[in-house]
Amino acid sequence: MKTSEGSNNVAIVGLQWGDEGKGKIVDSLSEYFDIIARYQGGANAGHTVVIDDNKFILQLVPTGILRPGKIAVIGQGVVVNPDALLRELDGLEGDGLNARERLKISDRAHLIMPYHRSHEVAAEQARGVGKIGTTAKGIGPTYEDKAGRRGLRTGDLRNPEAFLRKCKAVLSEKDRIASALFDGASFGGDEWIGEYIEKARALLPMLVDASEYLNDEMDRGKRILFEGAQGTLLDIDHGTYPFVTSSNSSAGGAATGTGVGPTRIGSVIGISKAYTTRVGSGPFPTEILGGDGEELRARGSEYGAVTGRPRRCGWFDVPAARYGARVNGLSAMIITKLDILDTLDEIPVGMEYEYRGERFTSFPADVDILDQIKVHYRVLPGWKQSTFGLQEFSQLPQKAQDYLHFLSDQVGVEIAMVSTGPGRGQAIWCNESRLANLIRSK
Ligand code: GDP
Ligand code: IMO
Ligand code: MG
Repeated sequence: MKTSEGSNNVAIVGLQWGDEGKGKIVDSLSEYFDIIARYQGGANAGHTVVIDDNKFILQLVPTGILRPGKIAVIGQGVVVNPDALLRELDGLEGDGLNARERLKISDRAHLIMPYHRSHEVAAEQARGVGKIGTTAKGIGPTYEDKAGRRGLRTGDLRNPEAFLRKCKAVLSEKDRIASALFDGASFGGDEWIGEYIEKARALLPMLVDASEYLNDEMDRGKRILFEGAQGTLLDIDHGTYPFVTSSNSSAGGAATGTGVGPTRIGSVIGISKAYTTRVGSGPFPTEILGGDGEELRARGSEYGAVTGRPRRCGWFDVPAARYGARVNGLSAMIITKLDILDTLDEIPVGMEYEYRGERFTSFPADVDILDQIKVHYRVLPGWKQSTFGLQEFSQLPQKAQDYLHFLSDQVGVEIAMVSTGPGRGQAIWCNESRLANLIRSK
């Protein structure tokens, strides 16, 4: 009789629009887990981990790879660009990590093809001022083909002849649609397919049935940390649609993206900055326009890890965090980058929205409303003292403790950890958090 109890496992999700510090937190927590599994997204992610003087930016490979002995799994909810993945593995091996030996890739994960990237660039151009501001990694069109049932999967690489046949059929379908709609338009030739297959077949030794692997390992008592990419407000279903990514970056994606049933996922931790950032277009109610926003960007080094684009900065948004707590069923939150607020006299927190004279705290589905709402703030006093690198909650200035308690009370979720710097170890475990104690009771 197998148990469905999965209380040992934890899913990490971004609570905002990405870049919350998931990489840093997954690296910190992975000490207590055996396997780290990515469940969605692709090389649009940029997860930064700082270990001593070394900085790693992981895009496709789960962050757990940085800890010797840990197994990393890419689940079938992830979209894989073989070239990008092999380059990332080369980089990790150049740093002395035996990455290929510890990485397993689902044989059901969809492949990003060269035509997905060209499609994305053309689609963004066609949108003009309404563009999403994507990372141009081919993510959206690959998920479109997955849903359109014309995707190619990693497992297809096992049979090169069948792969060639399927790929040519897909290209021919795309060409027929393009030429019917756009008079003679084409996705280009197919002479590149052979080379693509040859290169991508380097992934074959790493392919597994990820669902079978993960469930068997859990039966043997292993603990899994599920690593989300992007954030809840970029989720295709729950985010600020259409200014979202094309996958389920919230907690539900951990089950569909790995083949581990929801009853075995265990707990869910939402990662949030002590303020908010967003890269790309779309509504951002608590955005700080002008000099104060630029100051926060400079202090927080808020530039995209993948594209280098400046991140838009804003204050913590309680209605958005409460919405994220609900759609993810959060067990706890982890607050990152507290130290970035150290110099501020006052820290506004977004408490309530107002649209056409009506005040509310729910998170609207309509981006046009989100774009126009007025936010009502509560202004909390700053602590004007360094919290950088602190490791004990009691060492935090009283006003920083008050700020954290305020966020936790308002969102209605306990805080398990507070991050006080980019480095491994620059964090505070909250001893009164039930989940923090569960994770550490290995
Ligand atoms: P992710 O995509 O969620 O993994 O986040 P990113 O890595 O894209 O962005 C977070 C940035 O903040 C990275 O440069 C991290 O090194 C840095 N960072 C994470 N936590 C902290 C923290 O508590 N304090 C400071 N100062 N930097 C942090
Ligand atoms: P991590 O995992 C921040 C944003 C893009 C764009 C939108 C759609 O590092 O938090 P896409 O290329 O996914 O089709 O772009 O989503 N975006 C991210 N923003 N962090 C990320 O990942 C992101 N991944 C995608 O900027 O607005
Ligand atoms: Mg990032």
